[in-house]
Amino acid sequence: MDLQTKLVVIMVGLPARGKSFLAAKLQRYLAWQGYKIKIFNAGNYRREILGDKFSGSDFFNPNCEKFSKQREEVAKKCFSNLIQWLKNNGEIAIYDATNVTPKRRNYLAKECQKSGLDYIFIENICDNQKIIDEIIGIKIKNSADYEGKDEKWAKKDFEERLRHYEKVYESMSEIPYIKIFNFGERIEKNFDGRTNIFFDELAEFLGNLRFIKKNVYLTRHGETFFNLENKIGGDSLLTDSGVEYAKKLADYFNDFDLTVFISPKTRTIKTAEFLKHQKIKLEELSEINSGICDSLSYEEIAEKFPKIYLDRKNDKFNFCYPKGESYKMLIQRIKKVIFEVERQDKNVVIIAHRAVNRCLFSYFIETAQNDIPHIEMPLNKIIKITPNKAFYNFEILEF
Ligand code: SIN
Repeated sequence: MDLQTKLVVIMVGLPARGKSFLAAKLQRYLAWQGYKIKIFNAGNYRREILGDKFSGSDFFNPNCEKFSKQREEVAKKCFSNLIQWLKNNGEIAIYDATNVTPKRRNYLAKECQKSGLDYIFIENICDNQKIIDEIIGIKIKNSADYEGKDEKWAKKDFEERLRHYEKVYESMSEIPYIKIFNFGERIEKNFDGRTNIFFDELAEFLGNLRFIKKNVYLTRHGETFFNLENKIGGDSLLTDSGVEYAKKLADYFNDFDLTVFISPKTRTIKTAEFLKHQKIKLEELSEINSGICDSLSYEEIAEKFPKIYLDRKNDKFNFCYPKGESYKMLIQRIKKVIFEVERQDKNVVIIAHRAVNRCLFSYFIETAQNDIPHIEMPLNKIIKITPNKAFYNFEILEF
């Protein structure tokens, strides 16, 4: 996905609708593709600019002139830093603020136009009270605004803040926009008749996100005869030890309620054989295409194609096998897998291959692009990836 002009993503929505969650997800997704991207959060600027002074709900009262002026000043300062960052060396900036009035949004659009920046509004609309209550709970526990405050009092104060915003909130009509309803219920987009592949992809990604905590279990297939010979690619069968691993996987997972994704290769099909779950084959989970080097061992590649061997060693992320793929291309290919994983409402198991799993891992656990081809991805182990707010932790499970 290519970006033509530097881009400002402007979040819109009432507090406790999950804007910051979406912003963090979007940041991860785009950073994974190599973009220089940063979130500018108006709440953090408020705390920084106003210092230790606690901003109770009164601060958000739209009828109080003094506070309204202060809020505008903070918002403008945050936005002008964002523009400056983009002008320096950033590529995509996310403005994480409520931006609930047309007046504010028109101001932001004009500032972008003045600086020659492209922009898109992303409005998060949520009337699912269960989700709203969960986010309020998270806010009260984690927001610096309520540190050391009594929980009951904090909840009341935050609800009062919400009511202040509701008085002035108007849903988007300014364009271009993407509206997300109740995390995956539906999306609406309006790019003013323009074709914009980049915005379409953002809409697809955001439309697949769910406000659900789920684990992702990542594993390679069991050992194959090709593994014994250090050969890449091909469509080899499992060794006895590989079959053993397949049985252990079933012992571990068969009592779990899971979605299982596998690649269409024999070695992953066989590794999933004893799992009682339905298996979903995704073509995109196939191993990196090693082109003219397919079915060769690394020693054979070094001997037959010394230049390929060296080029790959020098820049493993960008190196593209002749008639094959690079890691960089692989990331583009497996975006579809990320969409599938994100929209599941239960835990997910992925049984795939070394290079593919490295790229998938780096979506969840931030990894510099050049380090992705060197992520440890051993046979006979599961990487358990667990959500931690909008981010993830991981641990290695061994049998
Ligand atoms: C805040 O100050 O917490 C948010 C400001 C806003 O986006 O309205």
